[in-house]
Amino acid sequence: MPVPHLVRIKIMSNTILVGAQWGDEGKGKVIDLLSAESDYIVRYQGGNNAGHTVRFDKKRFVLHLIPSGILHKRTICVIGNGVVVDPKVLFEEIALLEKQGIRVGKRLKVSETAHLIMPYHHLIDALHETHGKRKIGTTKRGIGPCYADKMARQGIRVVDLLNSKVFAERLREILREKNEILKKIYHHPPLSFSKILKEYLGYARKLKRYAANATLLLHEAQAKRKRVLFEGAQGTFLDVDHGTYPYVTSSSATSGGALTGSGTPPSRIDRIIGVVKAYTTRVGGGPFPTQFDSKLMKVIQQRGEEYGATTGRPRRCGWFDAVVARQAAIVNGLDELAVMKLDVLDAMPKIKICTAYRYGGKLFRDFSYDIDVLRYAKPVYEEHPGWRFDVSGIRSYGKLPLNARRYLARLSELVGVPITIVSVGSERKQTIFLRKRDG
Ligand code: IMP
Repeated sequence: MPVPHLVRIKIMSNTILVGAQWGDEGKGKVIDLLSAESDYIVRYQGGNNAGHTVRFDKKRFVLHLIPSGILHKRTICVIGNGVVVDPKVLFEEIALLEKQGIRVGKRLKVSETAHLIMPYHHLIDALHETHGKRKIGTTKRGIGPCYADKMARQGIRVVDLLNSKVFAERLREILREKNEILKKIYHHPPLSFSKILKEYLGYARKLKRYAANATLLLHEAQAKRKRVLFEGAQGTFLDVDHGTYPYVTSSSATSGGALTGSGTPPSRIDRIIGVVKAYTTRVGGGPFPTQFDSKLMKVIQQRGEEYGATTGRPRRCGWFDAVVARQAAIVNGLDELAVMKLDVLDAMPKIKICTAYRYGGKLFRDFSYDIDVLRYAKPVYEEHPGWRFDVSGIRSYGKLPLNARRYLARLSELVGVPITIVSVGSERKQTIFLRKRDG
């Protein structure tokens, strides 16, 4: 039987961790595990649309913006230039962490060139989702409109906010146009310049202590051989370039985004880990070829607690899609795979894996960007017997039931990437680390 683990777990200087499906793969837990061996943790894209859940000591932490590495006492957490920052959310999150006994202080750095989410971004996101004809099912956190402004050179960065003259000038200019859009397209009353100015200058005073030239900071850390972990948010198929467009988020969630989103050159990267669930989930709109029927969906939603960490929306669930995961391995250059929530499948008598799609009389072994293929394709499945055993207490690969090992081995073979981490529960200790076999 093929064994899905070929590489030794080793902590190298620069590791990127990405979601290899549609987000919510369980990255929060893996980041938390790897944070213990990292000096710096960097968020490089997205904003508070993300929700990383970490459980330990019977406590549950959900972080939306600050890297979950902040839960480790030593680590420096960096919000990179590729992230969009809602200052209100940032300070709420800092306050909540401190209330829970986590000291943030000097351990948090926010890139001066990260863009700010402004009140009109939320509003336009929500209005577009409510009134627009083509809904994406966004988190309504203003993410898309903020990135759109960044690209249209109408954004406001952290460094702009720290200079009150520059900030007032830019806000006045940009708000004039936004208010026209609000009035003419959405019939919405205008937003007040002075109110936003006052609110944001208040944030500026607090933001000063966290703002940094994050590119330089990371360069210096890397020069000293510090261990840096880049934590991706969302997932490969929500990436604006490589995902199921237009049902995507507006940032670069793939490994390439870690470079542009932090100012790190490609030559620095040593290791790229992809995170998948042992099945698949998706929240929000968009095609999902392996989606379960409603009966099985309910079972897995309940067993896997599949409700969005940010919006509370139920996640759609389906079988593991190897077509999707193989494409993720290619686009991210995955070296290793972490398979999460294996325990959720414990009671299943039979488990399916999608190996190809059939559409219009053709067989698609590779991922297709044609939205109609993804929407209407019939998945080609292979069926595996379940293990019907509670694996949540197992801590070593060899002790997993044979059918569970066979299932993992097949996933690894289809994706073409060795598995190094298997998660069998939400607690830190419910993790199996796979090591190279002796000899
Ligand atoms: P936005 O990022 O709020 O613009 O939403 C765009 C799409 O990405 C929607 O389908 C969201 O449900 C999805 N999305 C955004 N963030 C996450 C996440 O952290 N996990 C899963 N889906 C997400």
